[in-house]
Amino acid sequence: MRGKHVILGVTGGIAAYKSAELVRRLTERGAEVQVVMTAAAREFITATTFQALSGRTVRESLWDPAAEGAMGHIELARWADLVLVAPASADFLARLTHGRADDLLATLCLATAAPIVLAPAMNQQMWQNAATQANVAMLKSRGVRLLGPASGDQACGEVGPGRMLEAVEIADLVEPMLAVPGPLTGKRVLITAGPTRECIDPVRFISNRSSGKMGYAVAQAMRAAGAEVVLVSGPVSLCAPTGVQRISVESAAQMFEVVQQQLPGTDVFVATAAVADYRPLEIAPVKIKKRNEQLTVEMTRTTDILASVAARTDRPFVVGFAAETNNVEQHALEKLLRKNLDMIAANEVSTCKAFDCEDNALLVLSRGGARVELPQAPKRELATALVALIADRLKSKV
Ligand SMILES: Cc1cc2nc3c(=O)[nH]c(=O)nc-3n(C[C@H](O)[C@H](O)[C@H](O)COP(=O)(O)O)c2cc1C
Repeated sequence: MRGKHVILGVTGGIAAYKSAELVRRLTERGAEVQVVMTAAAREFITATTFQALSGRTVRESLWDPAAEGAMGHIELARWADLVLVAPASADFLARLTHGRADDLLATLCLATAAPIVLAPAMNQQMWQNAATQANVAMLKSRGVRLLGPASGDQACGEVGPGRMLEAVEIADLVEPMLAVPGPLTGKRVLITAGPTRECIDPVRFISNRSSGKMGYAVAQAMRAAGAEVVLVSGPVSLCAPTGVQRISVESAAQMFEVVQQQLPGTDVFVATAAVADYRPLEIAPVKIKKRNEQLTVEMTRTTDILASVAARTDRPFVVGFAAETNNVEQHALEKLLRKNLDMIAANEVSTCKAFDCEDNALLVLSRGGARVELPQAPKRELATALVALIADRLKSKV
C-alpha cells in the first residue's frame, strides 16, 4: 500500500473507536490516510486522535473556507485511490444510496472515481431492517464493496449481525485492493521457519536456538513481493506477518507432514527452519525419573524435509539455508550439490552470530555457480535482498 492514498470516512457509530486503530493498521502498511469525519462521528471520537495518528489535519466540513478556496472537496475526491468508510452508519448507507451530497463525506463519495468500500456497523435490527437491506443491495449493484458486518455481541447488549469488522481484518481486506503487483505476484511460496521440538518424555524435549526471525523476515519479504505465502513454523514467539498463512507445528515429523500437504501448487520452497536431525527413538510415556547418574537417550534420524522436496520430479524452486560454524562456503556448496538445491543461503552461527539476533550476513550460492555476498544487515533487509535474488532466478528460468 506504499504511497497509496486512502480517504477514511468515519461516521456516527459506536464502532468509531475502532477507526483509530484502523488508521494505524493502514499507515503501518504504507498508506497515506486522510480522515474525513461526519458531524455525528465527532460525538463519538475527537479529530485530535485521528490527526495525531494519521499525521494529517482531519477534514470535517464542506464549509471550510481554507480548504474550499481551491475546491478542496473535488481535489480530495481526485487524490483518493480508495474511499473507505468505517464505520458506515445506517444513515450514511441511506444517504449514499440516494446520492445525497449534504456533507463533505457524502459529497466526496459522489465526486470520486476511486472505489468505495464500506464497513457497516449498527444495531442488528437496524442492519436487518428492510430499508437498510434494500440500500445495501442497491449500493452493491453499483459496485460499492461491503466488508462485513460480523455477527456477535453488540455494544447495545443485543446479539446478531451488525458489528464492524476488526481494524486488522479491514486492513487485510483492503490491502489487496490497492496492492501494486510485485515480482512474485501470482506465485505461491512455502517457507519453513523456527526450531523443532523432539520429545523425550511428556515434559522434556530437545530443541535448538533458532528464533525463527530469519524465516519470518523471508515470509514478510515474499508477501511484500506479491507472493501468496504459507509459513510452516516451529514454536517461536513471533507474530505471523500480515497476509501470511501460518501453520504451527512442533516436531520435525509434523513439519514434514504439513510441508507434504502444502506442496501442491507451490512455486518456491524456502527451508529456513532449523529442523532437528535426530529425535529420540522412543518417547517415554511418563516423566523419566532422576534415578541414575547418567541417562542415555537413543536417537534416530528424522526425515530430511529439504532433500525430500528437492528430490521430487514436480519440485518447486528450492532454496535451502545452511547454518555452519566453520568452513561456511565449502559446507554450503556441498549441501547445495548433495541435496540438489537451486539456491542456498549460508550463514555462520558460531560465536553467537545469526541465531536469535536481529542482524545476520548471508552468502548466497546458486546452482550454475552464481555467488552473492549479502553483508551484515538487519534480517528484514537481508530477506528483501534474498527475495529479489530468488525473483531474478525465477524470471530467468521462464
Ligand atoms: C449513542 C449512539 C450510538 C449510535 N450508534 C450507531 C451505530 O452504531 N450505527 C449507526 O448506524 N447509527 C448509530 N447511531 C445513530 C447515528 O449516530 C445517527 O443515525 C447519525 O445521524 C449518523 O450520522 P452520520 O451517518 O452522518 O455519521 C447512534 C446514535 C447514538 C446516539
